[in-house]
Amino acid sequence: QWSMRAYVDVAVEQIRAQVGPDGHALCALSGGVDSAVAALLVHRAIGDRLRCVFVDNGVLREGERAQVEEVFGRMFHLPLVTADASKRFLSKLAGVTDPEQKRKIIGREFIAVFEEQVEEFARHGERADFLVQGTLYPDVIESVSFKGPSATIKSHHNVGGLPEVMKLGLVEPLRELFKDEVRRLGLELGLPKEIVQRQPFPGPGLAIRVLGEVTEERLSILRKADTIVQQEIRAAGLYEQLWQAFAVLLPVRSVGVMGDERTYENTCAVRAIESTDGMTGDWARLPYDLLARVSSRIINEVRGINRVVYDVSSKPPATIEWE
Ligand code: XMP
Repeated sequence: QWSMRAYVDVAVEQIRAQVGPDGHALCALSGGVDSAVAALLVHRAIGDRLRCVFVDNGVLREGERAQVEEVFGRMFHLPLVTADASKRFLSKLAGVTDPEQKRKIIGREFIAVFEEQVEEFARHGERADFLVQGTLYPDVIESVSFKGPSATIKSHHNVGGLPEVMKLGLVEPLRELFKDEVRRLGLELGLPKEIVQRQPFPGPGLAIRVLGEVTEERLSILRKADTIVQQEIRAAGLYEQLWQAFAVLLPVRSVGVMGDERTYENTCAVRAIESTDGMTGDWARLPYDLLARVSSRIINEVRGINRVVYDVSSKPPATIEWE
């Protein structure tokens, strides 16, 4: 039986050996479990010679930035800088409706913001020799073998691609692990359950869940609807057994009534998926009562939405995300 405690000790030794006694490392925290666990391991190994950067790209969910700052800054005392780049991402996204274009813009801006942050560190005399990445074993396999259709249908944006641009050595302490092992390792390192069990969230964030043009106003509507989906799924005890559950804001308006008034507002789709790896998935048979609560809360609490629909498409042929 592979013990996670023993794994921590071995990994810490390996990181120390790789980075050397005065090497410095950088890590882009995403809020997800992989980069979080990788950062905590490296911090344990080299202390404050690790610097973490969190890029606020303006397409995060409600409370996400605050959670990262709270957990990694105040709880774990990681040296963390938040790059507030939301204005910049949103201005680059203005007028863009094509999903792949959105992904490219976000990927490109992310690298640009990250590089600027590295230059900023350098101006303060803090050099960087290594980049920490939360690459898992399945990512390693996938990158050397046949890429499944989703890799070509959607250009999945992660932190990949940075080292070529920046000529940093790579520290990848999770390269031999599967997701469930990373989660166990996270718990061993004291990471809160909310982060350890977090459902996957795509790099391009809410930009690919606001269908069509991404604006501050539409993001704000989607955030409120999505928060309700998250709350109700958790309250029903279903969060951990679903691969993903989220809201999508459709570029469709429909007629409704509110009191004596006729409304003409946005439509929100709710998506809940059962899957083990995201490659295939089935729409979740959520209880009707839960769907009813989600729907009535969204329509009553979120100004700008007057209709909620539930997505009953499986993957394939549909994809999990709508864009
Ligand atoms: P699809 O929509 O292709 O999604 O069925 C499969 C899984 O991948 C996630 N996804 C992404 N993750 N960048 C990411 O980091 C992306 O551009 C991206 N597109 C989809 C999706 O949330 C699901 O878990």
